[in-house]
Amino acid sequence: MNYKIKKSFPKDFLWGASTSAFQVEGGYLEDGKGLSVKDIPSPRPGITDTKMAADHYHRFKEDVALMAELGLKTYRFSISWPRVFPKGNGEVNEKGLQFYDDLIDELLDHNIIPLVTILHFDLPQALVDLYSGWLSRQSIEDYVSYAKVLFQRFGHKVKYWQTINEQNISLLIPGFYGVKDEDPDKWFKMKYQMHHNMCVAQSKAILSFRELCPEGKIGPAPAFFQAYPASSDPQDTLAAHYLEEIHNWLLLDLNVKGEYPHLAFSYLHEKGYTPEIYEGDLELMKKATPDFIAFNYYGSKCVSIDRGPTRIENLEYEGNDIRKRKSNFMDIPGLFKTVENPYLKDTKTEWMPNVDPMGLRMAINKLYDRYRLPLIITENGFASTDILEEDGNVKDLGRIDYVSKHLKACHDAINNGAELFGYCVWSFMDLLSTSQGFGKRYGLVYINRSDEDEKDLARIPKKSFYWYQGVIKNNGENL
Ligand code: BG6
Repeated sequence: MNYKIKKSFPKDFLWGASTSAFQVEGGYLEDGKGLSVKDIPSPRPGITDTKMAADHYHRFKEDVALMAELGLKTYRFSISWPRVFPKGNGEVNEKGLQFYDDLIDELLDHNIIPLVTILHFDLPQALVDLYSGWLSRQSIEDYVSYAKVLFQRFGHKVKYWQTINEQNISLLIPGFYGVKDEDPDKWFKMKYQMHHNMCVAQSKAILSFRELCPEGKIGPAPAFFQAYPASSDPQDTLAAHYLEEIHNWLLLDLNVKGEYPHLAFSYLHEKGYTPEIYEGDLELMKKATPDFIAFNYYGSKCVSIDRGPTRIENLEYEGNDIRKRKSNFMDIPGLFKTVENPYLKDTKTEWMPNVDPMGLRMAINKLYDRYRLPLIITENGFASTDILEEDGNVKDLGRIDYVSKHLKACHDAINNGAELFGYCVWSFMDLLSTSQGFGKRYGLVYINRSDEDEKDLARIPKKSFYWYQGVIKNNGENL
């Protein structure tokens, strides 16, 4: 075996930053766009909606110019399905496609490699109304038709593609994709069916991609959770193992190997949550091996055995408002529950319960060990309120510290032999947080607006922007 151990970031490392369509674009019904499930939930009082967001739809040229100034090698963004198919299927909206044509051309003109996510949460609402979205197998055909339109239109100029963003998180939240059931057992049965259908959809899309874009590269886009046992009690170790099986490998083993991992499958079977699997589904998934794994990482989980009641009772919250959850949305009663990790700095905020760069290093090593596929991190970032000071600066030193530590962890994992070809900060600019609007910011670029007041939406590079600019310039040598 030929082990190649690198000692630094590869010279063609893709230094990047990310966004997603509904979180930045605005123009939510412009030029024929249809509604998505993310346009529908009425935001909580005081939280803004998707109508304007960061107004990227109208200001993308200014944004790309800033990306070029930053020195980005890649920009990871998503295409809005209902902008391309306002009803989810049927007639294509040319104006929607044109927007992405223009954005991609602008990126290429600035030597920035586009990395496109086909679906980042914003499923067309029309498909939910028509057949309950991902719950129906019709969604598989519609996702593939949509993806094919993108491959045909942009495949000659976009090399890197991601299938579906964070399927493993989105399905933890009842109603996230427009459907739910108040009965927890019924909901769990539904969500594992949706999970299966989504896996079939992306594998089918990958097979079409092979025909339409033989030179391109495509991969899944899960969130990854590093789990630690809360103690050396073997039962806690088993609990941590269960968390990783159900929240990580259940998705990735299907995406990469076309297999249900046995521990997770036995859990589904025992609880009566096994999805309907059509003949040929797993064979199809086996054929559709991705070229790489893109993953998102924010922090880790500490897990103990749950000796409490086995009934799922954490459904009582609105949308994904974590403050309304009775328990952590990742917990599975009777199997495991997440607890505080005494070894990690408590950020004193529910937004980022812990900061764990070593967890990222382990995530990279585990993923590489299990699948031997090249890896790219497509989201990693720091949430804070961020204040525009009177001198015009945003001194987001916490973000610099966070990203710097996580990049050092990437460097360590590369030294350990893992093939990591890129890293994208979440997010390039401030955007509509999926749960807390503009009150919670992730950007390298400040957007001058609040939830209550759209102000002038001016773009103001934060301290972290200039710091990251230096990192990119030195290819990570000065971390
Ligand atoms: C990831 C999503 O889960 O986390 C992003 O892919 C999201 O879309 C990010 O913005 C942070 O979550 P939140 O709820 O703070 O926006």
